[in-house]
Amino acid sequence: MKPLKIAVAGLGTVGAGLVKLLSDNAGIIAARAGRPIVVTAISARDRNRDRGIVIGADVAWYDDAAQMAAKADADVIVEVIGGSEGIARQVVETAIARGLHVVTANKALLAHHGVALAQAAEAKGVALGFEAAVAGGIPIIKALKEGLAGNSLSRVTGILNGTCNYILTTMRETGRDFADVLAEAQALGYAEADPSFDIDGVDAAHKLSILTSLAFATPVDFASMYVEGIRHVSAVDIDFADKLGYRIKLLGIAQATDHGIEQRVHPCMVPVTTPIATVDGVFNAVVAEGDFVGRSIYEGRGAGAGPTASAVAADIIDIARGNRSPVFGVPVGALAAKGIAAMERR
Ligand code: NDP
Ligand code: HSE
Repeated sequence: MKPLKIAVAGLGTVGAGLVKLLSDNAGIIAARAGRPIVVTAISARDRNRDRGIVIGADVAWYDDAAQMAAKADADVIVEVIGGSEGIARQVVETAIARGLHVVTANKALLAHHGVALAQAAEAKGVALGFEAAVAGGIPIIKALKEGLAGNSLSRVTGILNGTCNYILTTMRETGRDFADVLAEAQALGYAEADPSFDIDGVDAAHKLSILTSLAFATPVDFASMYVEGIRHVSAVDIDFADKLGYRIKLLGIAQATDHGIEQRVHPCMVPVTTPIATVDGVFNAVVAEGDFVGRSIYEGRGAGAGPTASAVAADIIDIARGNRSPVFGVPVGALAAKGIAAMERR
């Protein structure tokens, strides 16, 4: 069977994790995908950095990721560089224009340009997969696009940032200070290149805007979303909450109201008796409420090489199998009719 050829743009936490996963699990993945998956090209800035992975001599190395997107011998471009503009956007746009499938973990890019990219991908008939962009180890994109597709959803909430949950949990359990635990989360590969995106709630807001689009098939203006992070949560706050029977969690909340879809990200006091209160460390959780399914809860590791690579691989396997679905669950044209183009105005 013809192999599916993959070019990987970015070889940091996620990119290196993906190369390792595709190599370690090549046999089982080929069986599930119905064809072998081979990495044919890679791009990162520093060729000499030790990334703890083996890169075959037959893999083409590109210093310029845009060149790779334009020229590589590939069926799929995986974008795991990051950032809503610049090289990451260029890579994705170039790949789609070339008629290649794209898989990305880049929630910032999707939160800012998701509709335009979806439009371009759907026009070209290529896939734009982004399971890794939200809650890494939880297949929540597939759940919303497929498993819950028969429901009218009223509310989607969750712990969407692994770094913040790791900081809040570790501060509570060990009494260590904020800056110290943040540095540890960075060293573990959990944090964004600019960690203020994590601790100021922006990363969770990017993810929530994607979940909202999928859950409600309607845009919520990212610019007007209320976003507050955990920068000002102190050890004393965490301790008082504990004594009162609560955990402090950074939650993303999207819900249907009489006035439209409400979206917000902020620290919340969560009673210790609720399932979400026990989701600790780098774990994420998403709670979706639908008219027929009722409440369903998903939990898994939200950041780091393994869970994120696992989600990227799921999208690649979908592409290998020939599965195609509209990028945001319904065709962009239908979303646009409901006003989702407003997302692009942010
Ligand atoms: P890293 O910073 O670890 O890796 C980024 C990679 O991009 C590096 O390999 C870097 O090269 C490469 N790169 C940067 N600029 C260029 C360029 N101009 N041309 C070619 N390569 C370039 O990031 P992560 O792996 O952590 O994250 C990647 C993406 O995945 C981001 O969008 C992030 O938000 C998302 N994500 C990350 C998760 C995580 O847990 N880390 C989880 C879910 C999503 P070099 O190594 O040579 O410097
Ligand atoms: N920085 C992000 C987090 C990575 O901590 O959740 C996963 O998207």
